[in-house]
Amino acid sequence: MKEQLENIRQEALAKVSEAADLKELQDIKVTYLGKKGSLTSVLRGMGNLSKEERPVVGEIANNVREAITKEIDEKTDALEQAALEEKLENEALDVTLPGRPVQVGGAHLLTSIIEEIEDLFIGMGYEVREGPEVETDYFNFEALNLPKGHPARDMQDTFYITNELLLRTHTSPVQARTMQHYGGTQPVRMICPGKVYRRDTDDATHSHQFTQIEGLYVDKNVRMSDLKGTLDNFAKSMFGDDREIRLRPSFFPFTEPSVEMDISCKVCKGDGCSVCKHSGWIEILGGGMVHPNVLEMAGYDSEEYTGFAFGMGPERIAMLKYGIDDIRHFYTNDKRFITQYHHAKGGTL
Ligand code: PHE
Repeated sequence: MKEQLENIRQEALAKVSEAADLKELQDIKVTYLGKKGSLTSVLRGMGNLSKEERPVVGEIANNVREAITKEIDEKTDALEQAALEEKLENEALDVTLPGRPVQVGGAHLLTSIIEEIEDLFIGMGYEVREGPEVETDYFNFEALNLPKGHPARDMQDTFYITNELLLRTHTSPVQARTMQHYGGTQPVRMICPGKVYRRDTDDATHSHQFTQIEGLYVDKNVRMSDLKGTLDNFAKSMFGDDREIRLRPSFFPFTEPSVEMDISCKVCKGDGCSVCKHSGWIEILGGGMVHPNVLEMAGYDSEEYTGFAFGMGPERIAMLKYGIDDIRHFYTNDKRFITQYHHAKGGTL
């Protein structure tokens, strides 16, 4: 029996030292020390031993059990340690590697220009409003003194959806919508930025879709000089205090009188050069005094209320401000162009 125990010890220890993973160790434990294990079954035969022999063999058996248990525990620790080290090795991070650059976006130049103009007019007490891009014939034309069949409708070549629905050709319908909203009783001071659409062939200065900013001021005693002062303030704040404006007579069915506004050429300061086509002036926007018919259709008493309105293209403003020569740059999303103006707000070249 002693011999048997010694064999078990040697066999078990040899297996433990060869074991390659935790599962094998577990199996060895079961094989030798488990309830049906070989050590246990030897111990069961102890009943046949003499009284003197029993404690001696019992002690040996305990030693064998302890020795095997100790070896298994030590080997378990060693394997666990090795596994941990391997895991750490595999998951090691080289914290000295340089990081990947994070791409930071920015506002599109058109957005910056629109926000700059909004801020300026908000500072003068205007509210910012919006209107639908799919517009009715009524608001785009009729409410602006352009009844069906009016020849001036041809000034803006229109995308029609049905006879009564179209893509708005300008932001002026928001004038009529806003005046209706205030119901002919309250003064109005609003600007409205938004997309507009015209059946144009795209080239360096034309696009079938572009943006406009509309302005409208209606109150008692609004005069032409208020329009001029407001636009002068706008021009100087956008382009610099040294710029002059001039108003030329023009025609729009919804304003009377109507004007077009020019600003003095920055390059030649009014002497004439190729940028201003040798006139010394550059056209910026259209405007005028709101036509009495437009006021009346929106519910305002034109004897009591007067107003001015203007409309401008932010693309054109940005092109002049930053010397951009092709309107398509705004829409083609070339990052080399876009990223140049991420910090454009307020900065003039
Ligand atoms: N809606 C006109 C256009 O698109 C511009 C304009 C607006 C003119 C307001 C006068 C008053 O050409």
